[in-house]
Parts: sequence; C-alpha cells; structure tokens
Amino acid sequence: MKNLHPEAILKGLRTKSFGRSVLCLEKTTSTNDVLLRLAEEGGVEGTVVTAESQTKGRGRQGRSWNSTVGKSLAFSILLYPKLHVDELPGITMAAAVAVARTLEAYHFKPGIKWPNDILFNGKKLCGILTESGDRKGKMTPVILGIGLNLNQGPKDLPASLKGIATSLYLEKGRLVDRNQFLRDLLFYLEETYRWTTEGQFSKVLNEWRKRAVTLNQQVRVIQGSCRFCGQTLDVDEKGALLVRNDLGMVERVISGDVELLALPKGRRKT
Ligand code: BTN
Repeated sequence: MKNLHPEAILKGLRTKSFGRSVLCLEKTTSTNDVLLRLAEEGGVEGTVVTAESQTKGRGRQGRSWNSTVGKSLAFSILLYPKLHVDELPGITMAAAVAVARTLEAYHFKPGIKWPNDILFNGKKLCGILTESGDRKGKMTPVILGIGLNLNQGPKDLPASLKGIATSLYLEKGRLVDRNQFLRDLLFYLEETYRWTTEGQFSKVLNEWRKRAVTLNQQVRVIQGSCRFCGQTLDVDEKGALLVRNDLGMVERVISGDVELLALPKGRRKT
C-alpha cells in the first residue's frame, strides 16, 4: 500500500485551504501535539499533519488511540474558528458528518453515535478528538484529530477491540487509497466547517440527524462518575443531546459518552 505523501494528497485536492499545507510523518507522539505546537508559532488554518504511527495517540475521555502503519488514517487539522466556546462541539459534529459523507462516497453507509463516533454494524470505524490551544487575541486554535480504520485486516486490530472496532476493509473486503480518501475527506470537511462557522450549522445538524444511531433510543449516559439512563430525543441547536431521564425530565448533555441499551433501529446493516 502506498504511504501517505503530500504530493499524492495535493494532486487533485478540491479545497481552498484545507490540506494546502500538509506534513506526512512516519512517527510522532500525536498529530494533535504537532499542531498544538505549530499553532503557537502561528501555523496557517487548514494545515494537516498525518502520521503512520503515534506513540501517544489519544482519544476522548483520556483513552488511547491505536493506528496501524500503512493501513489506518490518523491526521489532524489546524483551525481558527471565530466561534463562541459553546459552539466548539459543533466542529466535531461537522467533522462526523464529513467523515460519514466521505464513507458514503465509497459506497459505505455508516451511522453516527453521539457525539461523534462513526460506526458500522455497531462497531467503531472512526473517532474524532477536538482540542483547543491557547487563546491568542480572539483566535483560539482548535485542533481536530481524526482516526479512521480503513485497510486493517483481521490481525491488525488489537484483541481488546474485538467486537468493538472494525475497519472498512474488514467490512467490505475492499482496500482504499488512503491519499485519495484523505483528499476526499478534506473536501467534505471544508464544506461542513464552513456551514458551522458561517451561520449554517442547521445544515450540519440535519445531516447529522439523518445518520444518527443514538436518537430515539434507550441509553445510559456516562459523564465521569455520574451515570443515568433515559431516552434520547434529539440534539439541540448547539449539538447537545436531549435525554428524557427516568423521572420524565429532559436533560441537556453536552459532554460524556452514551451507551445504547437496545439495538439501534435502521442503519445497522447495509
Ligand atoms: C476517540 O474516539 O476517542 C477519538 C480518537 C481520535 C484519534 C485521532 S488519530 C489523529 C489524532 N491524534 C491523536 O492523538 N488523536 C487523534
């Protein structure tokens, strides 16, 4: 399989700024770290860093993230959204929609689990981690990190993730060109990011809802040591999850994880 390479990513890239500056590393701690440092030096919006291997790849809620050299896609992009801090979760939802649309362009029909996991047949294909750097004036850098399981075979995913994670290859038996996939993803990402930052976040929400596997479901909400069960109703205009708890009250969930208590209807098998 071809390595990720700036020339191959730039060839035919359909974006204005996303991925116009791109660095492909063999190994680093975390691509998010590389961009957090670059942001301190005033790096350009849309700069992308990829890595074949990350020694400290991280996920949400303090979890680690595994990549497979030459087979998965781990990258981060540097953004300077002019948004209120409350609106930053919208960027992650925009990214989830962009990943789903890219997979659909490859004839794959994923679902989105709140807030931003991309699933197929209930197993995780992609995770998204958004982190903010130091505020400089009004420009708070946001680092959007995306990890995708693309070409991993049966032996590539750790045993601990059996039944929890999957890859595009494992599900469809088809290998994808990672340079081309990233190029396509950057195109959709630039579009959904523009919707988010230019007053059209409702478009992101609508696209997100169409693919949601966590709406109208019985779930357990996990926020650190606090847990409760309820029925998911919708997401609000900021992307918070609305859950009716067992006492009938609607809670607004802005962070944490949800576990589905029943199998989601629809978008399970394609
Ligand atoms: C999650 O689902 O917990 C989020 C996983 C995010 C992983 C990506 S891989 C590229 C970037 N660098 C990291 O260290 N994490 C993100």
